Amino acid sequence: MTASTVTGTGVPATQAGYFQLRAELLGPSRTRLLTGPELIQVGLQVYGAPAAFSLYGVPAPEMAGCGLRLLGRTAIECTVDAYAAPVAAALAERVPAAGRPPLVADLFCGSGNLGRHLAAALGVRAHASELDPAVHAATRHNLTALGIDIDLRLEDYRDLLGRLTPHGPHDTYVVEPPWGPAFTEQGLDLTATAPPVPEILADITASRQGAPCLIVIKTNDRIAHDSLQRCFAAAEHLASITPAPTLPAGANMDFHLFRLSA
Ligand SMILES: C[S@@+](CC[C@H](N)C(=O)[O-])C[C@H]1O[C@@H](n2cnc3c(N)ncnc32)[C@H](O)[C@@H]1O
Repeated sequence: MTASTVTGTGVPATQAGYFQLRAELLGPSRTRLLTGPELIQVGLQVYGAPAAFSLYGVPAPEMAGCGLRLLGRTAIECTVDAYAAPVAAALAERVPAAGRPPLVADLFCGSGNLGRHLAAALGVRAHASELDPAVHAATRHNLTALGIDIDLRLEDYRDLLGRLTPHGPHDTYVVEPPWGPAFTEQGLDLTATAPPVPEILADITASRQGAPCLIVIKTNDRIAHDSLQRCFAAAEHLASITPAPTLPAGANMDFHLFRLSA
């Protein structure tokens, strides 16, 4: 990897610039609302073009005008529309249209954008939990501003699991905990996220008394310690989706779909 890369949109983005911005937004600007020009800068530095940073169907250059509120951390942690859409399509392909509509539970919802896409593809209302009051308040504001109907609660994901009654084998859980120190130059260690992915999977299984379900998980394109394989050793792999590689190597997102059963 050279010091600069040409992104999928043809706009040069520097690797150093990306990681510098990432550190700023996850660090000092973590809980600060970003300005319109800063949101455009995220689009340029992270996704190679201002409009490629798009959430809820709103591209970054229009976010401020729509009154959207995004914290530094969420601007980095979120799943943008162009990534969420193919994941939602892959999920919908595997869920029969007939029968009782499945649950969609976005356990670590942040912006709520990934759960929103998945639920829309299945024609259901997403349930979402978010523990950080500042993230929750910004997301609540954005959903209200845009008229998006999600059952969003300020709560721990275990409380959401405890409230949900399973519908059937296509109930879908979005597992996207903060990576924190689990993400290093060696890659992402899913056994070291907060909470660790194996613990979250055990909580989901327990809440359903072992009934099968679907899991959607976002990872980095560099996995440490074979941790994806180890976390999902007992699950059935259904699909992996790698959106267009517009980020510097080691910063790309992969999405995986698994069937989990006890
Ligand atoms: C990686 S972000 C999720 C991003 C999200 N998928 C999106 O598209 O914006 C993880 C989120 O989980 C929240 N979180 C952390 N621990 C949590 C917990 N125990 N229960 C619920 N939410 C939690 C964090 O505050 C953070 O906003």
